[in-house]
Amino acid sequence: MEERLHTINTVDLMDVNAVSKQQAITALESGKVMHLPCYGFLLTQKEQLLLCESMLNPKYKNISYDYQQQYLAGYATRAPIPILQAFMHRFAEFSKQLIDHVLPDYNQALQWGRTSYRPAEINGRKTSKRKDDTRIHVDSFSATPVNGLRILRVFSNINPQGEPRVWHVGEPFQKVLLTFAPTIPPYNPIRAKLLKWTKITKTLRSAYDHYMLQLHDRMKLDDHYQEQLNKHQIDFHPNSTWVVFTDHVSHAAIRGQYLLEQTFYLPVSAMQNPDLSPLKQWEKEKACVLA
Ligand code: SIN
Ligand code: FE
Repeated sequence: MEERLHTINTVDLMDVNAVSKQQAITALESGKVMHLPCYGFLLTQKEQLLLCESMLNPKYKNISYDYQQQYLAGYATRAPIPILQAFMHRFAEFSKQLIDHVLPDYNQALQWGRTSYRPAEINGRKTSKRKDDTRIHVDSFSATPVNGLRILRVFSNINPQGEPRVWHVGEPFQKVLLTFAPTIPPYNPIRAKLLKWTKITKTLRSAYDHYMLQLHDRMKLDDHYQEQLNKHQIDFHPNSTWVVFTDHVSHAAIRGQYLLEQTFYLPVSAMQNPDLSPLKQWEKEKACVLA
């Protein structure tokens, strides 16, 4: 299990030196989970009352926050909005600070995505296979094309009862691609235009987004693949933080409650080694430009 994790044992980001930063970026881009077991997001006294499942609007999976627009969604009517918003705003800044310190090479190019708070237990939630994050997958957003951008996510377990966030990590991306690429139908630009026209996608689904979404769906829908796969279990304890390229690392969240997550997008050109990106691997597979 250890080889899937890159651990940074620090309580203070100022202690992470240049060599550790270099090792971290290399590990992350090669498909490891960057884990900071002693670096957690601590709640203020007032924020403790947010540790309750009823903060969530039952129609939603998560409470989400747009840091740039300062827009909150998915909360229940009884939620204390100013406290909730400040809490999510604080986590967005905590995550940005972490990336800026440990992965300074990404500073200039990093783009903000959504902040999410997940107060519901993930185990046993009723959902379709396609939406079921307890099944191994790589991330791809059906309505929001990324057009080749990397999906970089920061997670913090804030569970107050000492319960870990339990993940399974599957096989390397290269192997996933080898398994599923031959079964995936080619990109259809006319269908992509139709999806945009009917507002099923927010922008035009690129060829890259098509292939990644197919990969995501086919992995999740394949019962045999899910069962026979060699999985590594990782328990992320409360008050710890981890950073992952979730479009590259196949993962599933098996169990846990009370998680914060921040999404960032990163252009492939800002990577230390762009050849390791899913985009470049797909382009090699298809022998053409996809985004
Ligand atoms: C996921 O990205 O699939 C879910 C991660 C989590 O909720 O722990
Ligand atoms: Fe995921």
